[in-house]
Amino acid sequence: MTTQFPDGFLWGTATAAHQVEGGNVNNDHWEMEHAPHSPFVESSGDACDSWNRWEEDLDLVAGAGLNTYRFSLEWSRIEPEEGEVSRAALDHYRRIVDGCRDRGLTPIATLVHFTMPRWLMHDGGWTGPKTGDRIARFTELALPAVKDAAYVATINEPNLMAVQPVIGGMARRGEEIKGLPVPDQAVSEALIGLHHRSTEVLRGAGSPPTGMTLVGIEYIDEGGGAEPLQAARTAMMDQFLTAAAGDDWVGLQIYTAQRFGPDGLIAPPADRQTLAHGMERRPEALGAAINHAASVLPDTPLLVTENGIATADDADRIAFTTDALRGLAAAIEAGADVRGYVHWSLLDNFEWMLGFAPTFGLVAVDRETFVRTPKPSLAWLGEVAKRNGLA
Ligand code: FCB
Repeated sequence: MTTQFPDGFLWGTATAAHQVEGGNVNNDHWEMEHAPHSPFVESSGDACDSWNRWEEDLDLVAGAGLNTYRFSLEWSRIEPEEGEVSRAALDHYRRIVDGCRDRGLTPIATLVHFTMPRWLMHDGGWTGPKTGDRIARFTELALPAVKDAAYVATINEPNLMAVQPVIGGMARRGEEIKGLPVPDQAVSEALIGLHHRSTEVLRGAGSPPTGMTLVGIEYIDEGGGAEPLQAARTAMMDQFLTAAAGDDWVGLQIYTAQRFGPDGLIAPPADRQTLAHGMERRPEALGAAINHAASVLPDTPLLVTENGIATADDADRIAFTTDALRGLAAAIEAGADVRGYVHWSLLDNFEWMLGFAPTFGLVAVDRETFVRTPKPSLAWLGEVAKRNGLA
């Protein structure tokens, strides 16, 4: 089996605005983090202070030998109140794109990575009747900042965003959460609509190649689970992949598998659970989910825009990623058109409801001084990039 990757393959690492910038006090997540009985274990606070330290972050990526950096824009900074535009925030993101280019890094920019401004949260949210027009306007505002990126993603993981309200309801009712439930169909359809509105604006302006990034999952039938498996895969993957058929590319973010029996989801055994959300440690998921996406969209270029593991054991991060990359190489050899691999994450960061405990980073961040300390896995992934393959 080859462990060499195609010429020009992109090797990078990712961050997302709310998880690293710090001080994003004007978005829905900040509000949810501080609400009474918040499901968030802690506040994002200063996060990794990347709003100020982004140059150091880019230096770490380029210094390791990687050639790609994925980051996201924070809508609540760019449009702090409806219709009020922060030129300074736009300029900040434009400088990140330029900073990538200056260091030989291929920039991949995401317009919306889970967060929305508070004013939008309080006036309809993702499913509100005016949100289509509003995301179209935000996309137009963001254009000057991202026009020199190599790839632009509209929305990060709309298929996971549509699961969040279902999980919220289950938690309120005290039901056991064994894995990802099927997304809320109305939210799925709304988000697909928003992706298309944003795409129209980008395309109309001759922007860089445009797509969305989706959670990709390996689906495993443990016996008698074919029916619930198919229902879950259709709702979570296939309707989103089909909706991406006209796009320039699709991003896949693959961490784990879901197992099914006759009664639906089966929770992974405790000894295979990772630090994040009890997700199963399953490096094989990368190749499997790529094969599936390539079978649904044989003519659309794919990018792995996230893959990684929450672990305190950096040697295991390297072992996990090695196995995942072998599966990716096999999928490419079998015909999948994959253009790059972007690891989640550059930094140990704010992992949403779980706070700072799950460590996905190639680089540790001191919670008080923000000092960055690269782990061995950063240099290791840089070597893979320079070799364009596994040793
Ligand atoms: C993905 C998110 C990303 C990160 C990883 C662990 O679902 O896109 O922000 O939290 O999971």
